[in-house]
Amino acid sequence: MATARIISRLFSLTLLALFAGSAAAGRAAASPGQDLYNDECASCHSVGSASTPSGPTLKGVVWRGVASLQDFAYSRALRSAGGSWSPDRLDVFLSNTQAFAPGTDMFFEIYDRDERRAIIDYLRTLK
Ligand code: HEC
Repeated sequence: MATARIISRLFSLTLLALFAGSAAAGRAAASPGQDLYNDECASCHSVGSASTPSGPTLKGVVWRGVASLQDFAYSRALRSAGGSWSPDRLDVFLSNTQAFAPGTDMFFEIYDRDERRAIIDYLRTLK
C-alpha cells in the first residue's frame, strides 16, 4: 500500500506537469467531461463498483460521503475533511486538492472552471 501511494504520488506530479501543457493547448470534444475524465482521471480511478490501489472508485461519488468507501485506504487528510461530495465541494477539491485537504494523496489542480464543471457533470452520470 505504501509503495502504491508513493508511485501514485510520483505519477500524479508527472500528470500535473503534463496537464499544464494540455490545458494551455485547449480542447474541443463532443462530450468534453468524459474525454477530460478519460485523459486525466481514469489512470487512477475506476467507474466500476470496486476501487483500485491507485484510487477510490468514482462510481456514485456525487453526494457520497468524503473518504467513505470501505475498499480504499484513504489518507488521514482526506478522512478528516468530513461531509459529502456536493458538486460545489468537488469543484473546490478539483481546483486544488492540496488546498482542500492538505496532505491528501491526490495531487491535482484544474484552473479552468469550465473544465471542472464538465468533469463534475460527467461524474454526476456515474450512478
Ligand atoms: C495519480 C492518481 C490520481 C489521478 C490522476 C486522479 N486521482 Fe482522484 N484520487 C486519487 C487518490 C490516491 C485519492 C485518495 C486520496 C486520499 O486518500 O487522500 C483520490 C481521491 C479522489 C476523490 C475523493 C473520493 C472519495 O471517495 O472521497 C475524488 C472525488 C477524486 N479523486 C476525483 C478525481 C478526478 C475527477 C480526477 C481527474 C480530474 C482525479 N481524481 C485524478 C488519485 C488520483
